[in-house]
Amino acid sequence: MNNSLHTPVYLRAGGTSLVVAVDGGRLPRILHWGPDLGELGDDALADLHRAALPAIGDSAVTYPQPVPVLPQLTEGWLGRPGLVGDSDGRRWAPYFREATHEAGDAAEGPVLRSRAHDPEYGLAIDIEIQVLSGSGLVRQRARIRNDAATPYRVTSLELALPVPSDATEILDLTGRWALERVPQRRPFQVGEWVRASRGGKPGLEHTLLLVAGERGFGFRDGMVWATHLAWSGNQVLAAELTPAGTRHLAAGELLLPGEVVLEQGDELQSRWQYGSWGVGLDELAARFHRHLRSRPQHPGSPRPVVLNTWEAVYFRHDLDTLLELAERGAQLGAERFVLDDGWFLGRRDDTSSLGDWTVDPAVWPKGLQPLVDRVRELGMDFGLWFEPEMVNLDSDLARRHPEWIFDAGHGPGLPSRHQHVLDLGHPGAYAYLFDRMNELVGSLGIAYIKWDHNRYLLDAGHVPDGRPGVRTQVEQAYRLMEQLKAAHPGLEIESCASGGGRVDLGVLEFTDRVWPSDCNDPHERLEIQRWTGLLVPPEMQGTHIGAEESHTTHRTHPLDYRAEKALWGHLGVETNLLTADDETRAALARWVAFHQEHRALLHSGEVVHADLADAAYRLEGVVSGDRAEALYAFSVVDRPATWPPGRIRFPGLDDTRHYTVEAVYPGSAPVAGTVLPPWQHAGVTLPGRALRLVGVEAPSLDVDRSVLLRVFSTRAAS
Ligand code: DGJ
Repeated sequence: MNNSLHTPVYLRAGGTSLVVAVDGGRLPRILHWGPDLGELGDDALADLHRAALPAIGDSAVTYPQPVPVLPQLTEGWLGRPGLVGDSDGRRWAPYFREATHEAGDAAEGPVLRSRAHDPEYGLAIDIEIQVLSGSGLVRQRARIRNDAATPYRVTSLELALPVPSDATEILDLTGRWALERVPQRRPFQVGEWVRASRGGKPGLEHTLLLVAGERGFGFRDGMVWATHLAWSGNQVLAAELTPAGTRHLAAGELLLPGEVVLEQGDELQSRWQYGSWGVGLDELAARFHRHLRSRPQHPGSPRPVVLNTWEAVYFRHDLDTLLELAERGAQLGAERFVLDDGWFLGRRDDTSSLGDWTVDPAVWPKGLQPLVDRVRELGMDFGLWFEPEMVNLDSDLARRHPEWIFDAGHGPGLPSRHQHVLDLGHPGAYAYLFDRMNELVGSLGIAYIKWDHNRYLLDAGHVPDGRPGVRTQVEQAYRLMEQLKAAHPGLEIESCASGGGRVDLGVLEFTDRVWPSDCNDPHERLEIQRWTGLLVPPEMQGTHIGAEESHTTHRTHPLDYRAEKALWGHLGVETNLLTADDETRAALARWVAFHQEHRALLHSGEVVHADLADAAYRLEGVVSGDRAEALYAFSVVDRPATWPPGRIRFPGLDDTRHYTVEAVYPGSAPVAGTVLPPWQHAGVTLPGRALRLVGVEAPSLDVDRSVLLRVFSTRAAS
C-alpha cells in the first residue's frame, strides 16, 4: 500500500541491503543495513518505511526516530551530534533541510547522493552513501560548504550507521607496543563507548573496527556490524545507545582547534566511514578482504619472501656481513632483501640522524650499490627502510631547518625514541623528502620501502604561527607515497609505525602491506594477526620468522612454531642466518618452499576461525574461493584442563564435497611430546558436512605447538 511517505531508496549489492528513508526534505536515515532483503517493489519499500517508524509519545524533542546519517540537535537528536562548528559563537546549531536525493549506479556500486542546506546559516551539505558491489561494504561521507561571508570553524564532522537492537555487545581492540590488537568486549549500554586516536596516527592501541553484535557473537555465529574510518590521523569511533533505544556506530576525523576554518566557498570533505556486517566476524572481515582485493592497485604478483635485516644486525651495518646474509637468504628461497634502519649519515643508533637521508660513506664507502648489485644477482629485489616524517634534533636536517620541526609554541616538545616530527606542511620539507627518496629509489632501483613512523604527534604546530598541522601532515604523507609510486611504477610500500601503529584503509590506498607488530613471538603473533585480520587480508600483513628467542618477549620457540605462524601472511625471515646452523637453515628453506607452494591459496582464500569452547586452543585456516582446498592450523596456546583436546571441526568447507584431511609437517617431523590420533597415520576422507559437524580428533600437543592440516577435495559428494 502506498502512503504519503516518499518511497525509501533501496541500495543492494554484494549480499548487502541498505534501505534509506529520504522523505520530508530531511537528511537520509538508514532503516535497514544488513542481509539482502531480496527484490522489493515501491509498495513494499513504503510499507517497510512505515513499519520502521517508532511509536511517538507526547514530546517532539525526545521522540525516538531512526538514526539520521548526520544527527542534528535541531531535529530533536540528543545524542552525539553530526556536525559541530561555529562562527565565533554563532551558527552553532545547524539545521540542514530541504534535502534532495538522487540514487544511481556508480562504478563501485549503487549510490545515494543527498544534498541539503541551512539557508539561515549559509551552510550546504552533500552526503554520499554507497554499497560496494562485490564486497557488500557500505561507505558514506559528507561534504560541508560555507556559503556565508563569515568564516565557519568546524569542530567535528561525524556520520552514523545504525545497528539493530539485537546488537547488545561491543567488541573493540586495544594494545601497546609489541602487543597490538588485544580484543575487549562489553555490553552495549545506554551512553557512549568512544575510542579516540589523538597521536597523528591511529596508533598501536587503535581499534581498527568498532563492532556491535548479538549476544555471544563469534567468528562463525551471531550477527555483527562494524565501522571503520579510512584515515591515518586523529579520529574517533563511537558506539551509542540513546535512552530512546537507538543504537549506532559513528566515525569521524578528530579535528584540533582551528584546524578546519571554512572561508566563504570553502568545503570540508569527511573521510570515508566504512561499515561491514556478517553472520560472525569471519564474514564481516571477508567483506573488507574482498574490497581490498578488488582494487586495481592490490598487489597481484606472488608476495616475494622477504629477508629483513633488522633483527639480524640492528644498526651494525657492514657490507661483508650483509652480503653473506643476502647469500644465505637467497639459499633458503628469499626473493626480497630489505635493508632496515642504520644505513644513512651517522646513524649508528637511534639517537641521531633521522632526516639525513644520504647513504653514510663511513659505513658504505662505495654506497649501497655493491649490496644492491649482489642482491639482484642472487635473484632478489631490494628494499630500504625510511622514516620520512621523523627527525632527530641531532641531525644536519634539524640544524639546517629547525623551522621545519613541529612546534606549537613550546619548542619541539617531548622526544620519543629521541625523535621529533618533521612538518610536511612546509613545502621545503616536503620537497626535500621527495627529492631524497626519489633519488634513492630511482638510482638504486628500490622495489620496496619499509615506511616507519615511530613517534606520536603531540603538540604538532606549524611554524611560525603554531597552528595545528596534524591533518595536513597525514594528507602530505599520503601525497608523498602517491607521488613516489607514480614516479616509480611497481614500487611497493609497507606501512610500519613501531609495528602496527598505522593500519587503516586510508594508508592502504597507498601501501601494499602493513607490519602488524614488532613482536615476532609466535605466541603473540597468532593473536595479533588474527585480530589485524578483521580488516587486513593475509597477503597485506608482514609475517616474519624471528629468532628462537623473541627480542620483545624473550620467550623461546621452536622453528616450526615460529614458521607456522608466519606462513599465512606476506612471509619474511628476520633472524640472523649467519648464526643459524645447517639444520635450521635447511628447515627454514623447507618452510619457505612450502609457503611458496601454497601462497596462491593463502593469499586469495577466505580466512576462517573456529569458535572453540576451550580457550587453550585455536583453529584457523584459509579456504580457497571454490572451496576445493584449505589449510588449517590447530594450535595449543595454554595448558588445557582436560586431555586429550577433542575434535577439530572444520569451518568454511563445502558440505557436499568429499575432502581428504592430512597433517603436514613442512619443517621437521612431529616434535617430542606430540601424541598423534590414529587417523593421522593415513589421513581420512569425509564429506565437508561430516568434517564440519563431527570433525577429526586433534593430536595432543604441548603449549605453543601446532599442527598444519591440509584439506583437499577428492570428489563431489553423491
Ligand atoms: C621500528 C620498526 O617497527 C622496526 O621493525 C624497525 O624497523 C625499527 N623501527 C628500526 O629502527
